[in-house]
Amino acid sequence: MEPAEPSRYQFTPDLRICRILNGMWQVSGAHGYIEPARAVEEMFAYHNAGFTTWDLADHYGPAEDLIGNFRRQFAARHGVDRLSEIQAFTKWVPAPGRMTRRLVDDAIGISLSRMGVECLDLLQFHWWDYKDANYLDALEHLAKLQHEGKIRHLALTNFDTERLGLIADRIPVVSNQVQYSLIDRRPEIRMASFCREHAISLLAYGTLLGGLLSERYLGSPEPRRPELNTASLQKYKNMIDAWGGWTLFQQLLAVLRQIADKHRVSIANVGVRYILDRPAVAGVIIGARLGVAQHIAANARVFGFALDPGDVATIEEVLAKARDLMQVIGDCGDEYR
Ligand SMILES: NC(=O)c1ccc[n+]([C@@H]2O[C@H](COP(=O)([O-])OP(=O)(O)OC[C@H]3O[C@@H](n4cnc5c(N)ncnc54)[C@H](OP(=O)(O)O)[C@@H]3O)[C@@H](O)[C@H]2O)c1
Repeated sequence: MEPAEPSRYQFTPDLRICRILNGMWQVSGAHGYIEPARAVEEMFAYHNAGFTTWDLADHYGPAEDLIGNFRRQFAARHGVDRLSEIQAFTKWVPAPGRMTRRLVDDAIGISLSRMGVECLDLLQFHWWDYKDANYLDALEHLAKLQHEGKIRHLALTNFDTERLGLIADRIPVVSNQVQYSLIDRRPEIRMASFCREHAISLLAYGTLLGGLLSERYLGSPEPRRPELNTASLQKYKNMIDAWGGWTLFQQLLAVLRQIADKHRVSIANVGVRYILDRPAVAGVIIGARLGVAQHIAANARVFGFALDPGDVATIEEVLAKARDLMQVIGDCGDEYR
C-alpha cells in the first residue's frame, strides 16, 4: 500500500521524491554481508510501498550496481516508461587533487554506466579539504556535464554554510546532505536559514543514529565497542559521547518513548518526524540493510501522525542539557575535516 501523500515532496520542478529516502551505505559491506539478488528483490518491496527514492554513492560498495540491476529488472517487469518512478541520488567523493575535465568526465561516466542511466537524477558532491580549492574546478566541470544532459541536478554533501554560500554564488545546487538528528542539530544554527533563503533543500542522515534511536536501546546498558556491529552504530555512538553521553541519551529515549506511546508510534518515528518538520528539510535518509533487516511498514507510520507543541517542548527540555556540538565539532560536515 502506498503511504499517503504527506510522504511526497516536490524536490525540484521535475522530481517528486519520497520524504524518507532509502540509504544505501548499508549495502557497502561495513554493515554486514549483503546478498545482491536478495537485495534487488527487496528494492521492489520498498518501491511498491512508496519508498521510491534512493540515496547512494560511488564508494558505497555495490550500491550503484544494485540500482542498475534494479532498474533493468524493473523495466522488464513493468516497462521502460515506469522507470521514471524511481529516483536515484548518487554522490561523487573524489580524492583531493587537481580536478581536470577528463577526471570528472570519467568519474561521472562510471556512475552513469553502473546505474544504467543516461542522466543522473542528482549528483551530490563531497570534498575532504577546503584548503584544496580544486573543488571549485570540479564543480565547474560538473556544471558543464549538467549542461550537456549527464546530470539533472547538482547538489552537495557535508559542506558547511560558508562554503555552501561560496558555491551557490557560482553554481546552482539544489540540496546539501548533512547529519541531522535530535542529538545533532547543528544544521539549525546557520545552515537551515541559509538554505531557506536560497531555495536549497536539506537531506538529513544519521537521524536514527544507525538504529541507536530505538526501543532496542531503551534501558540498555552502554554498549561496548564489539557490540556495535555496523559502521553506522560505531559512528553515532561516538556522536552520542560527544553530545552528552549514554545517561543523557537514556533520558532522551525515555521521553521519546512517552511521546511515541501517546501517538501509538515508535521512538524512531518520533525522531524522524521531528527532523522532517524542521525548516528546509526535504527528506530524511534511513539506512536499509537490504535483504538483512527491513522496517518498511514501521517507517511508513511517520506519515500518519504529528508532533504537538507540548511534545516538542518536552523533547527540547532534555536536549537543552546536552553539549553544543557546534562548539565541539563545528558547522555541518566539519566532522569529516
Ligand atoms: N553524506 C554522508 O556523509 C553520509 C553519511 C552517513 C550516511 N549517509 C546516508 O544516510 C543513510 C543512512 O545511514 P546512517 O548511517 O545515517 O543510518 P541510520 O539511517 O541512522 O540508521 C539505519 C539503521 O536504523 C535501523 N532502523 C531503520 N528503521 C528503523 C525503525 N523504524 N526502527 C528501529 N530501527 C530502525 C536499521 O537497523 P537494522 O538494520 O539493524 O535493523 C538501519 O540499518 C546511508 O545509507 C547513506 O545513504 C550519508
